[in-house]
Amino acid sequence: MTVELQNQQKSKPLSDNWITTFGFILALAFLVGETIIIAVDLFYGTDNPYVGILIYLVGPAILVFGLLLVPLGMIWEHRRRLRGVPEKKLPVFDLNNPRHRLNLGIFAIVTTVFLALSMVGSYQAYHITESTQFCGLACHQVMQPEYTAYQNSPHARVDCVQCHIGPGADWYVKSKLSGVGQVIAVLTNSYELPIDTPIENLRPARDTCEQCHWPEKFYRAVEKSLTYYASDEENTPYRVDLLLHVGGEPGLKNPSRGIHWHVGLDHKLEYYASDEDRQKIPWIRVSYDDGRVEEFVDSEVEGFDPATIPAGKIRIMDCIDCHNRPSHRFHSPFQAVNEALEFGRIDPKLPEIKLNLIELLQQDYPTTHQALETIENELLDKYKEQMAEDPSLQTTVNQAIEETKRIYGKNFFPEWKVEWSKFPWHIGHFEFPGCYRCHNDKHTSVNGDKVISNDCALCHTIIRQGEGWDNIDNLEYKEQKFLHPRGYEDAWVGQNCHECHGPGMM
Ligand code: HEC
Ligand code: HEC
Ligand code: HEC
Ligand code: HEC
Ligand code: HEC
Ligand code: HEC
Repeated sequence: MTVELQNQQKSKPLSDNWITTFGFILALAFLVGETIIIAVDLFYGTDNPYVGILIYLVGPAILVFGLLLVPLGMIWEHRRRLRGVPEKKLPVFDLNNPRHRLNLGIFAIVTTVFLALSMVGSYQAYHITESTQFCGLACHQVMQPEYTAYQNSPHARVDCVQCHIGPGADWYVKSKLSGVGQVIAVLTNSYELPIDTPIENLRPARDTCEQCHWPEKFYRAVEKSLTYYASDEENTPYRVDLLLHVGGEPGLKNPSRGIHWHVGLDHKLEYYASDEDRQKIPWIRVSYDDGRVEEFVDSEVEGFDPATIPAGKIRIMDCIDCHNRPSHRFHSPFQAVNEALEFGRIDPKLPEIKLNLIELLQQDYPTTHQALETIENELLDKYKEQMAEDPSLQTTVNQAIEETKRIYGKNFFPEWKVEWSKFPWHIGHFEFPGCYRCHNDKHTSVNGDKVISNDCALCHTIIRQGEGWDNIDNLEYKEQKFLHPRGYEDAWVGQNCHECHGPGMM
């Protein structure tokens, strides 16, 4: 009897088992599905980066899984037969039987619906992994500071992937491959905080920023009004209005002018930064379409030889060489408090509030919790007597406490070692060198007597300026030179703002 059974089994191929059959059906279903979706992607060319994972990662993975099941099932069947385990008799299936035909029909429909749903499901799962909440919180928890800053940025409605990945499957796959290393680092706790900046291989801005902002459509000038409050009893305001020569000539290709000249269409600007943060720039080259080439070298770096620049370290200047934090800006206490006072979120009539808040926000705290507690207690303590004299101050002080906590929560992340001073900001020249990395009158052209200019009027015109509560709302419009507030007037000349106003200085 057993010999008979074994003989009967031997005559059947090893592939005749459930695992192999299932694997085969799975692989076949996904092969057909893949072919259809790839065809759709090719013909209708969705620019959606999301489609990438389904077609190029999930689909093939399931296909390979199905194909792997085929030999696995055969090995399993081989072992089963060696052990001589009798085969369970399967029900006979007869297509001439109407009931059997009905069952087959139902089975086919259910399977098709199930497979279709699982494809939609994996597509949706992909959507979720690429959603902003997921990037910022679920998977990339370490990016919480970037996520928080992002929510408060002008790009709060632009998805992370639109700047970090952009359209097309190739960058999607590249980013996920580098993501694998990051996931391992997070799981094994072997990453360094804060997260490194700048990102070494961010996709060129041409494929991301320029999907929404066209260099041909930049503005001629932008008016910017800035108000600062002094660290004195009255929080004396100082206001300066700048007309920024943002530039770009709508409709004209040649020549481009003003601040956006750097990304103009008639030339290419390249530079080499000798430090990781791109703060020190000893060499710059401009190559014009008409064949002219100009090279500038920092005369302060003695005997700098462009031939010593390591391979692959020359960057083509693009948007993020100035707009390096379009969506993750961490503000300094100075900036954040000025802004809150200017927009009335904190009442500037509270005596010495500017000084008090700067002092509180500049301290180092081990945890956010402790910071918020200290801020509340210290402010209540500082204004205790005044509130006792004038109970109406209570609401004002409470409002200041709430706003200061909000400022702290948005800009300081002690758990992640993140705060403004570790993330240079390249626009302007107030707290970081910014534009002055090149525009400091020290970068001299190799073949001429030209320098990259530091002339204040090159980039902006000061059109209004003044100090004091009585003045700042009725300032006269006129072109003028900068007068440093608080009576220092010209005392700053010969020094850069960031040398006194940068991290650790004020
Ligand atoms: C408007 C474009 C834009 C959007 C939207 C955006 N980022 Fe960024 N992100 C950048 C740029 C530019 C940098 C800095 C690159 C550099 O300096 O090399 C950056 C840097 C980062 C860094 C590196 C650390 C650092 O602070 O420099 C992380 C992490 C990050 N982004 C995460 C996110 C997450 C998470 C989201 C979505 C919640 C997001 N980004 C949305 C443009 C963007
Ligand atoms: C998906 C579209 C989109 C992408 C991609 C995008 N932006 Fe924007 N950006 C916007 C919109 C919309 C605004 C206007 C927001 C507003 O006015 O509140 C804006 C505003 C800005 C502003 C003005 C900010 C301000 O303070 O008023 C700058 C600068 C800017 N973007 C730079 C960039 C840079 C640099 C990148 C690439 C790293 C980029 N953008 C990528 C849509 C985009
Ligand atoms: C040389 C530095 C530099 C480069 C390079 C640069 N920008 Fe700007 N951009 C500025 C400055 C400075 C402003 C002035 C407004 C401000 O303070 O944000 C500005 C303003 C803007 C604005 C806002 C205009 C407004 O009305 O407020 C947008 C949008 C913008 N840039 C996008 C871009 C994009 C996209 C690129 C790349 C193609 C780019 N920029 C390259 C320095 C630069
Ligand atoms: C290479 C271009 C450039 C040069 C040269 C330059 N500035 Fe600026 N300046 C800027 C930009 C860009 C900003 C940032 C405006 C903003 O906040 O968007 C700025 C900001 C300022 C501000 C406001 C401070 C702040 O909070 O950012 C003052 C004041 C100022 N500049 C004064 C000067 C004076 C004085 C000189 C000449 C010694 C000068 N600048 C030279 C580009 C320049
Ligand atoms: C990597 C170096 C570099 C940085 C950083 C840089 N610039 Fe420039 N900039 C140059 C060079 C080079 C020129 C051309 C100098 C020349 O040919 O005279 C130039 C020219 C300019 C011009 C004159 C363009 C024209 O109309 O011909 C303006 C305005 C300007 N820069 C503003 C800025 C501002 C504002 C910033 C900061 C937001 C900045 N630059 C940052 C290198 C730089
Ligand atoms: C030599 C150091 C030094 C340099 C350089 C300098 N500042 Fe100041 N600045 C100060 C000091 C000190 C104060 C505080 C004065 C006070 O409150 O009595 C101050 C205050 C200010 C204030 C008023 C806000 C406040 O907290 O009082 C503004 C605005 C300002 N500086 C802008 C600038 C700009 C813009 C530049 C570059 C063009 C610059 N400063 C260069 C030292 C400097």
